[in-house]
Amino acid sequence: MEWNHSNIKYTSSIEYDHRLYRQDISASIAHARMLAKQQIITDEDFRLIYDGLVSIKQEIESGKFPWREELEDIHMNVEARLFEKIGETAGRLHTGRSRNDQIATDIRMYTKESILDTIKHIKILQKTLLDKANESIGITIPGYTHMQRAQPVLLSHHLLAYFHMLQRDITRMKNCFSQTDIMPLGSGALAGVPYPIDRQFVAKELEFSAISDNSMDAVSDRDFLLEYSASASICMMHLSRLSEEIIIWSTQEFGFIRISDEFTTGSSIMPQKRNPDFAELARGKTGRIYGNLMGLLTIMKGLPLTYNRDMQEDKEGFFDTVDTLNNTLIVFSEMIKSISINTERTKQASEDPDILATDLADYLVSRGETFRKAHGIVAELVRTAHAQNIGLSELDLKQYSHLSQYFDLDIKKMTTESSMMDRDVSGGTNPKQVKESLNKALEILSEDNG
Ligand code: ARG
Repeated sequence: MEWNHSNIKYTSSIEYDHRLYRQDISASIAHARMLAKQQIITDEDFRLIYDGLVSIKQEIESGKFPWREELEDIHMNVEARLFEKIGETAGRLHTGRSRNDQIATDIRMYTKESILDTIKHIKILQKTLLDKANESIGITIPGYTHMQRAQPVLLSHHLLAYFHMLQRDITRMKNCFSQTDIMPLGSGALAGVPYPIDRQFVAKELEFSAISDNSMDAVSDRDFLLEYSASASICMMHLSRLSEEIIIWSTQEFGFIRISDEFTTGSSIMPQKRNPDFAELARGKTGRIYGNLMGLLTIMKGLPLTYNRDMQEDKEGFFDTVDTLNNTLIVFSEMIKSISINTERTKQASEDPDILATDLADYLVSRGETFRKAHGIVAELVRTAHAQNIGLSELDLKQYSHLSQYFDLDIKKMTTESSMMDRDVSGGTNPKQVKESLNKALEILSEDNG
């Protein structure tokens, strides 16, 4: 077969794996330093290799590095350049190492950094949510089930729900970090290496907490990438649900919020439009992140041990997931800051005349009725009201008493405020409870920074 340009294109990964250059060079320096310490190469060889690698890094960072597609990947590009710079000594760097344990190490280092970035951006978004929750502590909205108005809740309570989802996303990312924090170098191609290497030394140099226990596992698994992708998918799912709420709340029909102009776009034909494109794109990008997860699961599912070239296909989707998740977190925080709340609309919606139906049933229970019976009585009242084209709270006391002797004048004192006050249970929407959980959330956020 003739090896023409399109064959090279097919096998080459340099177009996307060049972004591993920092990890690749650091890992090479640590490996070479260890080889010298173990007297596998001389100190002079190490010096030459070290200086060469440092100058290659500078070339890359100043945009002067001569990337060559025919050299396939980041590892071969760096090594070939090292030959050009220091000659035959460059050939000693790959002693006791294979591209298989090299790439497994590089990508683990990259993943660890990505996790720390992601956690940082999640925390910034959490802080924004807490600030919004704090500033809207007096605002009531209807809580929904099945998209039907259900019970009044504080808007802050609703926002805090997302804080907790994101907190679990951080926990998932941290778990992923500890699974990733294991160094494969020293595994060689698959069986280990026949040199007196010091793996612990290299792990320490590269800030890995542990070294891998099995060379075949170390070069052939990518489950840490799957864990990142799965955790990213869950986090994006949360952001996508928030997007959906932002989109719905900003419709003319709801009118609860206004997203600032910066985060909406006009229509090319309808001049009145203020489209919530950022939230829509976040919802859409969630689909792509799921796709990347499914792609990698599928790449890995049929591979016999150990390394197979299929695994080169792990990178594009993974990099895309890291970029998309981190950018979405950044954009979201800014978008949420920019949202203003139309308190007239939220008040109007939360004072829906049917919204205290559960409270009425609870009222009957407090007078001695069983909950099931109370539920039936209030359901009947709702039917009576709707038959007259009015809401539950608009019925007069006589109509209430007709269905239960327990109803008294004080039912007319029930309000959305009293409904929320009554839910004085930890985790509930009672304003005192919400303030407490807001403080607790702030504590979680600051503790985590330590
Ligand atoms: N570019 C390759 C990858 O990302 C590096 C490992 C190559 N190993 C090999 N045996 N061809 O998977």
